[in-house]
Amino acid sequence: MHIMADKLLSRYQELKSQINFHNHRYHVLDAPIISDLEYDRLLNELKKIEAEHASWITSDSPTQRAGARPADRFDKIRHPAPILSLANAFGADDARAWLERVKRIDDRVEKAKFVVEPKIDGLSVVLHYRDGMFVQGATRGDGEIGEDITSNLRTIRAIPLKIPVNGEQLSVKNVPKYLVVRGEAFIPIKEFEELNRKLEEAGTKTYLNPRNTAAGSLRQLDPVLTASRPLTLLVYQIIHSEGGKAPTSQWEILEYLKALGFPVANVSKRFDDLESAITYTETWNEGRDKLSYEADGMVIKIDDLNLAADLGFVGKDPRGAIAFKFPAREVTTTLNDIGVAVGRTGVLTPFAILEPVEIGGVVVERATLHNFDYIAEKDIRVKDRVLVKRAGEVIPYIIGPVVDARSGKEKKYKPPANCPTCGQPVEHLEGEVAWYCVNSACPAQLLRNIEHFVSRGAMDIVGLGIKIVEKLIETGKIKDVADIYTLKRADILDAVTKKERKTKVEPPGKIADNLLLSINNSKSQPLSRLIAALGVHGVGEVMARDLSQNFSNLDEIAKAKVDDLMQIGGLGPNIAESIVDWFAVPFNRQVLKKLKSAGVWPQGGQSSMSSNVSDKFANLTFVITGTLPTFSRDDAKAFIESHGGKVIDSVSKKTSYLVLGENAGSKLDKAQSLGVKIITEPQLRKLVGG
Ligand code: IVH
Repeated sequence: MHIMADKLLSRYQELKSQINFHNHRYHVLDAPIISDLEYDRLLNELKKIEAEHASWITSDSPTQRAGARPADRFDKIRHPAPILSLANAFGADDARAWLERVKRIDDRVEKAKFVVEPKIDGLSVVLHYRDGMFVQGATRGDGEIGEDITSNLRTIRAIPLKIPVNGEQLSVKNVPKYLVVRGEAFIPIKEFEELNRKLEEAGTKTYLNPRNTAAGSLRQLDPVLTASRPLTLLVYQIIHSEGGKAPTSQWEILEYLKALGFPVANVSKRFDDLESAITYTETWNEGRDKLSYEADGMVIKIDDLNLAADLGFVGKDPRGAIAFKFPAREVTTTLNDIGVAVGRTGVLTPFAILEPVEIGGVVVERATLHNFDYIAEKDIRVKDRVLVKRAGEVIPYIIGPVVDARSGKEKKYKPPANCPTCGQPVEHLEGEVAWYCVNSACPAQLLRNIEHFVSRGAMDIVGLGIKIVEKLIETGKIKDVADIYTLKRADILDAVTKKERKTKVEPPGKIADNLLLSINNSKSQPLSRLIAALGVHGVGEVMARDLSQNFSNLDEIAKAKVDDLMQIGGLGPNIAESIVDWFAVPFNRQVLKKLKSAGVWPQGGQSSMSSNVSDKFANLTFVITGTLPTFSRDDAKAFIESHGGKVIDSVSKKTSYLVLGENAGSKLDKAQSLGVKIITEPQLRKLVGG
């Protein structure tokens, strides 16, 4: 009995460290080595053990990230050392003048090295670790005293709950008994756009910019809300360290923090002189759109931290570093008109049609106006002079009107009463900011529906681009998503526009053939993909997977009642209702019928771990190498596994097949020398009769 418990306890500890390791690979290094499914499997096993042995749970368990209950206020925390700010430099000459000033204070500066880091536009946070455990986290506050937001910070997966994060590449031996680090919490641009897209679809208010959203998210009293926001973090400073030796140069600090398992900006670099640091900084001014987060400049820091400390401060700004600011990307222009776009779920979104204006090297003609309430709140009028901001890849947005510049000719704006695309009356739901076009056959919605249906996380139909879809809708060849499966070669040839024919490297015939192949291949996508592709309000990839495990096909889901659906873990009444509503719409029922008769009718019904389509690959092992024509690595793996096969990393004599793509590496040589059978993706599909 005891032996069993011992075994289970050591399995529990192993799971915990494995999950933390994979969490670090995913959220810090951005280089996962297992699939989400495998990750979930580990997590589920861990949860099961915790359910039986609550006394084993420690605060570094991955399940302890979002458990905390809402607070009614934040406690104050005194920082162990002041959380400083930075003086600004606006251009190279400012930076040079800074260096001249500090040289006069200390001639060691003459030989100084410099570290350049991105100046992330987020929120400064302070993280405390005792004996390697994350014990407390705070906002910057006034620099002396911040607010205790520990429970919120725990939900950020990039923040290690325990350091060093286990993993062979981490080599720090003596972790200080008490370590306090500082970093910047933020929402990456892509995630911000994605969040807004979802909010827009749901008819709720969208956020103005990543920074405000990050700030608001961290100051939520309910950590569950914080957990739902795509926050992440990069660290750059040690505020305090006891019992252990922290490095004394900024560059080594970054390396050290990275080795402990913290996320550190990978664009940071060290230079031997200021001019090289400036040159590098300027390349990021030009290339700032390539960063995945908003940066309002780069920070240039004297590498030698003892020297930097000796230089002292001007007010709260240390002399040893300077913020090299990028030019602001805000300009004024005229709002020529307000247009309205129709989204996939029928939400109408107003956008600004601007007098074209250059912002940071890009000509901007359109900007988002978020929603109709926003226009009213800001009193934005047509023909107003407006302040436009473009930051990173975030869609430019209107900050507000320049009221002083009004001439009296500006016109107040009234939202449309009819859908701008199909002309049907629009509807407004109580409690939502959005106005909807409720006509399922509205061509604007259809276009977005198809875009979603063919996208990578859904049916993954490569080559069905927006231009072709527009044409196919226009000519009446596509009236719903199911029509994709009845397209003829001639329809596609017709839709490939003349312009595209000229610019595309491939001849139209080839485009059409590839597309038809891709459409045909998509028929063997698993049920979870098809469910996600339908675009039911509130049903994303994860929910689709859960549904596919509990129902054997779409007809079964269509028959399900709200109560049946709510038997599925994690599925609340709102989503259940939304699913029932979707399947009740006659237009949608018709689509399902058409999909079925086109042979797009995958089966589900088992748990994903054994959701085998067939066992044709039972006892066979596969190695994949190179880039496959239509499958991603994950897709290929899922495909093989769904037929009972196993995918492994390296070729051996026992390997049944090497699946060969473009730019294959040494695995090909090895397979050839061992006489392993080599096949291509189409041959792989053929093996199962696909
Ligand atoms: S260093 C002595 N490094 O910019 C250390 N700050 O005005 C002073 N920030 O409040 C800060 N990225 O929130 C530093 N790589 C970075 C930074 C950074 C963003 C923020 C920080 C600070 C503000 C400076």
